[in-house]
Amino acid sequence: MSLAKQSSGNSFTITPVSDALGAEVFGLDVSSPFDSETLGIIREAFQQHHMLCFREQALEDEQLVAFSTQFGPLEVFPEKGHTKDKIEVYHVANVSLDGEHLASEDPKVVYQRNNGRWHTDSSYRYEPSLASILYGIEVLPDDAKGGETGFSNMLTAYAALPDDMKAKLEPLHQVHSYADIRRLEPSIPPMSVEERDAFPPVTHPVLRVHPDRDYQRSLYFTSNTSLEIGGMTLEEGKALHRWLVDYVSRPEFCYFHRWRKNDLVMWDNRVLLHRAIEYDFAHYRRVLRRTTIGGDKTIMGPFWPEARTAATGR
Ligand code: OGA
Ligand code: MN
Repeated sequence: MSLAKQSSGNSFTITPVSDALGAEVFGLDVSSPFDSETLGIIREAFQQHHMLCFREQALEDEQLVAFSTQFGPLEVFPEKGHTKDKIEVYHVANVSLDGEHLASEDPKVVYQRNNGRWHTDSSYRYEPSLASILYGIEVLPDDAKGGETGFSNMLTAYAALPDDMKAKLEPLHQVHSYADIRRLEPSIPPMSVEERDAFPPVTHPVLRVHPDRDYQRSLYFTSNTSLEIGGMTLEEGKALHRWLVDYVSRPEFCYFHRWRKNDLVMWDNRVLLHRAIEYDFAHYRRVLRRTTIGGDKTIMGPFWPEARTAATGR
């Protein structure tokens, strides 16, 4: 059901796009800062729907950054050469910063292909990202195959797990490493020593506990960098990882966003995985701009004292 909202002269609607997750916001211009009432409504809708798409926005990079910082400080991308004037604005495209359509084997395009694996942004940081924001500049024509951004809801995916799988996952941690993208995609050039040392591998619990949601649990893992699970052999870890990737792809957890030019899509990296759906890189141009809202905490696992108390009452 669509929800009509009125705040300080703004009148807009918030309409869920699927049973799994997501809502569309119509009639709200986000190019200038929100008043506090509107910001409150948007934050609440974001917490409830996990993904919001604001249609028909006209944004320069400055406005994209200004919109984004209303939700928190922005991350700066770990490698040079992926951003233009503003170092917080990451260029997600198979087209160069100067507008040239890149060859499919160009490392920048290989990065796009790697985005095709289910992941959550910045999980390679000790304090991973809260949310990512993508703005559609050049998108695929309606009749083209692929190019959607898929999302999967890790809260409902966790809740639907069989009990023995919940128990198996409870103590586990996964390794997350930015530099490790190269193990999946060996053609991506190495990082500089300084860049690499700024992002050492980290581990995070595979079950994430959400203090802002009554200590509800979700799955938290990534498949676009490292696949190692602590306490398992590499083969066991990879097998479990494959099982998880298959599991979160079930249609009941997923929504696939078909891009229109000037869409602004914002998603919650704490509770969703996402992936880019493959398309014909050589034939179509696709240009999105991304900002990333930083997280302010590392990830709470099931064995944190606070999480245990919430689970057991002790
Ligand atoms: C990203 C990403 C998805 C897409 O930029 O982090 O995963 O559809 N993008 O391009
Ligand atoms: Mn991503």
